[in-house]
Amino acid sequence: MIQVERFHDTDALYARAVAIIEEVKATGAKTFGLATGGTMEPLYERLCASTIDFSDAVSFNLDEYIGLSETHPESYHYYMQQQLFDQKPFQQSHLPNGFASDLEAEAERYETLLQQYPLDFQLLGIGVNGHIGFNEPGTSFQSTTHVVTLSSSTRAANARFFEDPEEVPTRALTMGIASIMRAKFILLIATGEKKRAVLEKVLMGVSTEEVPATVLANHPRVVILTDLQ
Ligand code: GLP
Repeated sequence: MIQVERFHDTDALYARAVAIIEEVKATGAKTFGLATGGTMEPLYERLCASTIDFSDAVSFNLDEYIGLSETHPESYHYYMQQQLFDQKPFQQSHLPNGFASDLEAEAERYETLLQQYPLDFQLLGIGVNGHIGFNEPGTSFQSTTHVVTLSSSTRAANARFFEDPEEVPTRALTMGIASIMRAKFILLIATGEKKRAVLEKVLMGVSTEEVPATVLANHPRVVILTDLQ
């Protein structure tokens, strides 16, 4: 079931997101699925400034580009280090290794790890085409961690973070839709006009693999925070 909370003020929205994470943590969550993207930057800034302690928790990121080293400024490893982990370390933090020589084996390794540490919580952003993690339109709802070819719209949307749009990787490793749906509680944040059309589709409650995030209608516990009215 999806519960939507709408905010006029993004400060209030992010304060609510922090409060939800604090509450989830206080009620015993130990494994946290984390997300990247511009939407999460204000959240991580506030988490860093909070008193919340993740040192007894384990994190799993949704995805990573293929071909960027951990120290590449646009890799999600680097993003997480800068935005959160340097200031709020977890007991263990996992991301897929986009530099692995055998990518299929890496996807399997990550999925096995996720099954060993079931997610109590998963944070999600959303792509304008409805992607969650890097699960692009058309991805099976049964999918587990896998290699994806990024759509041109996703590469274009993420080009703003790179000096040269040609540098945006063409592939990524991502948790699958089934991997995400196993999380006990999902918090999705969607801000800004660009997300309006896709958010409306998600809230219609009709699941279709053409819009990956519509799968959330089938999950028992989803909260969506948005500044869209
Ligand atoms: C990326 C990430 C997604 C994220 C999406 C939205 O492609 N892989 O996990 O949700 O972009 O990003 P933004 O928050 O920058 O709009």
